[in-house]
Amino acid sequence: MRQILVTGGAGYIGSHTIVELVKSGFEPIIIDDFRNSERFVLDRLNKLTQSNIKCYDLDCNNSQNLDQVFSENRIDGVIHFAAYKAVGESVEKPILYYENNVGSLLKLIQAMEKHQVNNLVFSSSCTVYGEPDSGVVSESSPISQPMSPYGHTKLICEDILKNIIALGESSLKVILLRYFNPIGAHESALIGELPLGKPNNLVPFITQSAVGKRGQLQVFGKDYDTPDGTCIRDFIHVSDLANAHVKSLDQLLEKRDLRFEVYNVGTGNGVSVLELIQKFEEVNNIKLNWEFTERRPGDVEKIYADDSKIKNSLNWSCKFSIEDALKHAWNWEKSLN
Ligand code: WQD
Repeated sequence: MRQILVTGGAGYIGSHTIVELVKSGFEPIIIDDFRNSERFVLDRLNKLTQSNIKCYDLDCNNSQNLDQVFSENRIDGVIHFAAYKAVGESVEKPILYYENNVGSLLKLIQAMEKHQVNNLVFSSSCTVYGEPDSGVVSESSPISQPMSPYGHTKLICEDILKNIIALGESSLKVILLRYFNPIGAHESALIGELPLGKPNNLVPFITQSAVGKRGQLQVFGKDYDTPDGTCIRDFIHVSDLANAHVKSLDQLLEKRDLRFEVYNVGTGNGVSVLELIQKFEEVNNIKLNWEFTERRPGDVEKIYADDSKIKNSLNWSCKFSIEDALKHAWNWEKSLN
């Protein structure tokens, strides 16, 4: 069975990807030091996959730790999720973000080279597009200086991978996945998003407000140049995003000549903040308590994916609707309380 190392595999997107990997016949191995995830997720994953997933409770930004993991296993590919991802926090602690996010990728690449493991799927973000002119972005849309140190670390990591392959310095084969806005939870409500402290992201704040864990939801700005004045995003079910990682691995393992590829992973539909709120209320038959407030600094007005490339090349498409995602998000929140 092909072994896949998943860094940050106990995290939000990582854990959902573990489920999809097992479903597709891979044997995932997790390395996660649980600084940003909970240990009970492991038990839930073993229950969901009816297996006993090997997990190294180690920091992957450490060459000795990575050496141990690669030496003790026969790894066929790696999915690299482990990184800090809070936009606001990255502005307050930029050095922490550069040291952790870029440092861990560099150590991972060195370990992969040393142990002759070539296949890498890297977790990137649509934030590298900055503020797109028209809202919709394809993989060939202009890359701009991201708004935050978090987004800058994603761009730096992308450039490192692209350049070492272009220079012939490396035997790596890499697929970059640029995420849009992952939302929702596994349909079983056994795993889902576990924000640390006050959620920065919209959907976890909505569900925590709805369940009474948080106060009123604030909608950041109503004067954007959009139909209802609120920002537009591409909200994709986390399980669909997870499945894109499995399809990427399949392509890396099958296509010997593939060296470097980039895919946007989104639904292709732009949905506004207000529309999402209304959808949440409809599908869950709940009235949310929210109000308009000032714009949030750094927010992009409108961004959503042209997802034609991933659909054509990876034979991937979304299985879940935004309504499914909002129902699953609510079921997950209720299961926590
Ligand atoms: C979405 C919209 C807010 C909270 C970020 C990162 C991205 C990825 C996902 C890591 C915006 C509005 C939000 C609230 C609100 N992160 N909003 N009230 O900023 O699009 O993307 O998270 O991988 O890289 O950039 O996501 O959910 O924070 O915001 O009105 O309480 O919801 O203004 O328009 P974002 P978000």
